[in-house]
Amino acid sequence: MKKLQQLYEGKAKKVFATDDPEAYIVEYKDDATAFNGLKKGTINEKGIINNRVSNHLMKMLESHGIPTHLIKELSDRETLVKKVTIVPLEVIVRNIAAGSLSKRLGLPEGKKLAKTVLEYSYKDDALGDPMVNDYHVYAMELATPEELATIAGYAFKINELLTNYLKDLNIELIDFKLEFGKTSDGTIILADEISPDTCRFWDSVTGEKLDKDRFRRDLGNVEGAYQEIMKRLLGE
Ligand code: C5P
Repeated sequence: MKKLQQLYEGKAKKVFATDDPEAYIVEYKDDATAFNGLKKGTINEKGIINNRVSNHLMKMLESHGIPTHLIKELSDRETLVKKVTIVPLEVIVRNIAAGSLSKRLGLPEGKKLAKTVLEYSYKDDALGDPMVNDYHVYAMELATPEELATIAGYAFKINELLTNYLKDLNIELIDFKLEFGKTSDGTIILADEISPDTCRFWDSVTGEKLDKDRFRRDLGNVEGAYQEIMKRLLGE
């Protein structure tokens, strides 16, 4: 597999073309941003941890019938993935109130939600990723009703699989963000990453935050939290 020209550089990852027209190489960086790029920093070895954690979780999801972009981990920071066109939605699933939901609705952080919440945001940095509902999605032709039903179905199933998987590792899955892509034949698959950058993970015994909130909120021991997640998931 040949790594060709860089196609895109995002806040946490770079994407490269390859000599396979149906595959890209994703390279994970240590750069961290928050609040739509207003806060910037570096989390030492984050790229390695997110690459390995995301691939580990995607493999688990694949084994339970969720199609993902994962083809093969190539190195500590690089993964070969299926080429997709990203559906420009951030798909957020919430089990426990935290973050922007707590702020918006005045719910205390840590309050268990009586029902799982599914939210969509339109991926647009200039607009600050505004929340949209299904009517907005169809009005803007971001996805068809069939595609959105597939995405919602996968999101709830992924929540169930991840919650159960993490529970055994004493990790409570508070909320997380997913992105989906479309392959050249129009199939919807899970893309992007599942990592401490994109999930809220709380230690189920101590309540300690083991995710990017340590960076966002200047809680200290950011690297330690990422290392702890890798240790619990991959045993190292
Ligand atoms: O900030 P908020 O409470 O809306 O975040 C909900 C979940 O989505 C958190 O787990 C957060 O890490 C994730 N998220 C993300 N990327 C964004 C916004 C939120 O990964 N741009």
